Amino acid sequence: MLRSFFLFLSQQRTLRRWFETSPLSGKLTKRFVAGQRLEDALAVAQRLHAEKILTTLDRLGENVTTIAEAAVARDNYVAGLQKLIPLNIGGTVSIKLTQFGLDFSVDACLENVRPLVAIAKAGGSRIEIDMESSEYTDRTLEVVRRLHQEFGCVRSVIQAYLKRTAGDIDSMCQAGIPVRLCKGAYDEPETVALASKAAVDANYVAQTKVLLDRGAYPAIATHDEKMIAATVDHVKARGIRPDQFEFQMLYGIRRDLQARLVQQGYRLRLYVPYGEAWYPYFMRRLAERPANVFFLVRNLVRK
Ligand code: FDA
Repeated sequence: MLRSFFLFLSQQRTLRRWFETSPLSGKLTKRFVAGQRLEDALAVAQRLHAEKILTTLDRLGENVTTIAEAAVARDNYVAGLQKLIPLNIGGTVSIKLTQFGLDFSVDACLENVRPLVAIAKAGGSRIEIDMESSEYTDRTLEVVRRLHQEFGCVRSVIQAYLKRTAGDIDSMCQAGIPVRLCKGAYDEPETVALASKAAVDANYVAQTKVLLDRGAYPAIATHDEKMIAATVDHVKARGIRPDQFEFQMLYGIRRDLQARLVQQGYRLRLYVPYGEAWYPYFMRRLAERPANVFFLVRNLVRK
């Protein structure tokens, strides 16, 4: 109920404009967002590197309304990647294809993304392609497949809550495309998504095992201790080394668990968002855990 409420709020444009331009926005978001500028995100990435944590940078934004806006998003990402690569900290960037023009056409989007992927390839980095709501799944996977054929340095995100997921994971494994498996963060109808948390969790564990056994360097993206324990059990049983996969988590969430995994010798990459268009991302984090509203209030009252 609260989850749907926050997901509904995440799509309200007037609220979004109000919050994003509010003088309180820095205080509101500092737990989950690295800052408004690229420099803030690079500083966080370097600090994490010193703590043996890898980074994937996300310049916040989605659903551009003109091709010109998509080109601006691409240029911002290019600038970010060009500063990230020389830091030599194994960083990648994560993008949303609706920010690169997917609403116009697959070809327009591909044209925009290619220069970024080419820079990643030349610099030994990777582009991680986030998965948005289910209306975009087919088109996103088509872009991923074409970029994989052309460049090879992309990772696809697959959401365990979708009923189609086993088939998508199988085809990603067959094509040798690395996958980040997450549970899924959008409000989806029961026609396409599993209805209960128990079913999503069971699918998550089943697909994690498929990826660990057959996938190309999978990323297990979750803060759920049960999912993590199932992963650890499986890799131990199969003799899969810690350098053959990575865990991924979101910046600011379950920092205790993050530290524990690193201490146990596992690879961990944090998804580090930055930029001014933080509202939809932030609302999805509240939807996942409405108790995060308390962090928010605490940050607001702190000097
Ligand atoms: P679950 O929601 O069951 O939470 C398990 C536990 O984790 C909670 O009990 C709580 O302790 C903690 N937790 C989870 N979320 C929290 C929050 N917001 N604040 C505080 N604690 C929290 N989704 C998507 O649709 N497309 C995408 O491309 C991505 N990309 C992505 C990248 C990475 C690196 C991560 C970690 C996640 C995503 N996601 C995503 C989001 C994902 O789908 C999912 O919504 C969240 O990860 C929450 O699911 P959990 O697996 O953590 O489990």
